[in-house]
Amino acid sequence: MLVENSQLTESAAQFAADVRAGLNRTGQKELPSKYLYDPVGSALFEAISVLPEYGLTRADERVLRQNAQDIARLLPTSILVSELGSGSGKKTRYILKALCRRETLFYYPIEISATALALCERELSDITCVSVVGIESEYLNGLCKVTSQRTQGTHLLVLFLGSTIGNFDSGADRRFLKRVRETLTPGDSLLLGADLVKPLSKLIPAYDDPTGVTAAFNMNLLARINRELDADFDLREFQHLARFNQQTSSVEMHLRSKKPQTVTIPGAKFTVRFAAGETIWTETCHKYTVKELVQLAQASGFRCEAQWIDDEWQFAENLFIAI
Ligand code: AVI
Repeated sequence: MLVENSQLTESAAQFAADVRAGLNRTGQKELPSKYLYDPVGSALFEAISVLPEYGLTRADERVLRQNAQDIARLLPTSILVSELGSGSGKKTRYILKALCRRETLFYYPIEISATALALCERELSDITCVSVVGIESEYLNGLCKVTSQRTQGTHLLVLFLGSTIGNFDSGADRRFLKRVRETLTPGDSLLLGADLVKPLSKLIPAYDDPTGVTAAFNMNLLARINRELDADFDLREFQHLARFNQQTSSVEMHLRSKKPQTVTIPGAKFTVRFAAGETIWTETCHKYTVKELVQLAQASGFRCEAQWIDDEWQFAENLFIAI
């Protein structure tokens, strides 16, 4: 109990420090997108994933469902499966079912949230040939725990689905995959889900839906700062923005101040001023090309073995092999 409490205090202090640093930046104010996912934000993201305008999650699931056998055929036997950010585990079931036609399996979902891990274990409990061993940890530490348990002759398949890779800042996607590669041995595999470039007429409504669910998801970050750091953001004086940056090929989410205003954040010991129209940049959602994904594999110590594309939404599942 003592340990849990000290961890809580530490993460609250980290949140305060990150908010202070991000809102005091000269030029563009920023907040790290990981803070969008508190329990309210995670529930809102679940709602986003079923919106008619947001095709990404359905496309990811469709490609996996339609191609699970083909993917499994390209993988060696004696395989352990691990997943970075399993969420509910719904999409993963297709791959696990295809793989366990050949052998019984261990599946290690890595999640920062114990609630998500419990959901995932429940979702997959009917697949009797798969033993689910949840790892409550950050991605890379969790992956090191998995690799430290492997025996000689076993292969590892790491799943990183849902285009979370697109939420890394420019260049950070490659640096992160390099670090994943460092935990693997040659011949191990990474199945990477990535959203592809598509017309703006499809992209913008996906991040600015008419029902306002994405706006609520974004705005909840200010509400979270109010709840956890005792701040006085007036949410009605901010507005959700989603815009496409052609240079970086990314949808950027921002929160725009409707008027000049000052906000006090006692839990982070500072006050911040906003000019009318000034924005806080809260998330980057990079949209890849198929070629860029092949280059990303090469730049991070993998070769791209195969790609499966969803034509309806333009989403790619990429099988990278560690070289
Ligand atoms: C989690 N991630 C892949 C989502 C995306 O589309 O980049 C996050 C999201 N933000 C707003 N809507 C969805």
